[in-house]
Amino acid sequence: MNHFELKDGVLHAEDVSLPAIADQVGTPFYCYSLSTLQRHYRVFAEAVAQAGNAPPLVAYAVKANPNQAVIAALAAEGAGADVVSLGEMKRALAAGVPADRIVFSGVGKTRAEMDAALAAGIFQFNLESLSEADMLSAAAQAAGRPARAAFRVNPDVDAGTHAKISTGRAENKFGIPIDTARDAFAHARSLGHIDLAGVAVHIGSQLTDLAPLETAFGHVGALIADLRADGHDIRTADLGGGLGIPYAPGDPEPPLPKAYGEMVQRTAAGWDVRLVFEPGRLITGNAGVLVSRVVRLKQNGERRFVIVDAAMNDLMRPALYDAYHQISAVQPGGETFTADIVGPVCESGDTFAQQRGMDRVDAGDLLVFRTAGAYSATMASTYNTRLLAPEVMVSGADWSVIRARRSYEELIAADSIPEWIRTR
Ligand code: LLP
Repeated sequence: MNHFELKDGVLHAEDVSLPAIADQVGTPFYCYSLSTLQRHYRVFAEAVAQAGNAPPLVAYAVKANPNQAVIAALAAEGAGADVVSLGEMKRALAAGVPADRIVFSGVGKTRAEMDAALAAGIFQFNLESLSEADMLSAAAQAAGRPARAAFRVNPDVDAGTHAKISTGRAENKFGIPIDTARDAFAHARSLGHIDLAGVAVHIGSQLTDLAPLETAFGHVGALIADLRADGHDIRTADLGGGLGIPYAPGDPEPPLPKAYGEMVQRTAAGWDVRLVFEPGRLITGNAGVLVSRVVRLKQNGERRFVIVDAAMNDLMRPALYDAYHQISAVQPGGETFTADIVGPVCESGDTFAQQRGMDRVDAGDLLVFRTAGAYSATMASTYNTRLLAPEVMVSGADWSVIRARRSYEELIAADSIPEWIRTR
């Protein structure tokens, strides 16, 4: 369910017509719907509310969409934040997420990141290796306060998703092998400055089946019992994110949050811990679209190309993961044709869709790429010296630019020419 619908033949975000925004901010641009964001958060939070021994911490995975307005909207709903870098932590704090609702994940946390997170007083570090535990203990000792942490375990479960976003197999870089977890906890405890509060797991993203999650969670439950038998005071279990969302019209519907919540409640019954969740895509994915204008049509032999003013640098997912995004006209005329939808960038990978049946469009028409609220604007680059697309947030009949398009001058001024460059 989202709030991007046709009204009088024109696609609107809530009550605002997309062409009206395009007239003011130019194309391409990202557009998010506040009501959709809020709805997704509330549906998820409601679905997991009864799981665990205390109200769960829903820590929004900031990486999915780190715009300050997006984080602030979710913080107002009570969300925490799952962050993977100092930058994301700063963003979460700046947007109003209380430090004690922040979880710090990632395999490569640096000492500087640990120091900053300890100083901020975050909820929990999710450790991914023994050497990381050593570093955190030293940081905590220096800070004069224990660091609250969980070990992320790798349960060697196939999430059944795209290889590049699968994280729970033994060959992936993530977590510690679950069969070494008891030793890892013993080691971390011996260091003296880590409060080992829990276990964490995250096996991948865009999961369309609950079974691998249930298997992974089952392993976590057994581990919690073992760890308690070893004398650890386990109080939290972080079950990660990963729930998939619909992208293509005919795709099987991914499990609904309600079904996920029921599965978690069933699986985690008796764990006696506070649960943490790290949803990203589920919250923001279908709350955003990318709007682009058709530059021109071109025919190469049998092949019709619709060339648009958005490119792989704006929305990388098709080029990177062969991801499907639904593409339609903002003002569909009722006719359809088959075309390749491509951007202006100088490589063939700059293709959003091949041989796609789509609304017939012509030069100057607006197109919308659906499901572009997660892992979209944030993965953009300025490749081909293209400016980052601006972002807009709509609420009812109101809208605001939440990240403006910068100028070419600003982009170029970020580089500098050493005084000696032309003399050697
Ligand atoms: N927690 C951890 C530790 C993660 O690594 C991730 C995502 C999440 C939570 C949030 O997962 P979600 O609920 O969004 O599935 N760029 C890729 C997706 C990468 C996901 C990385 N980790 C894409 O565009 O599909």
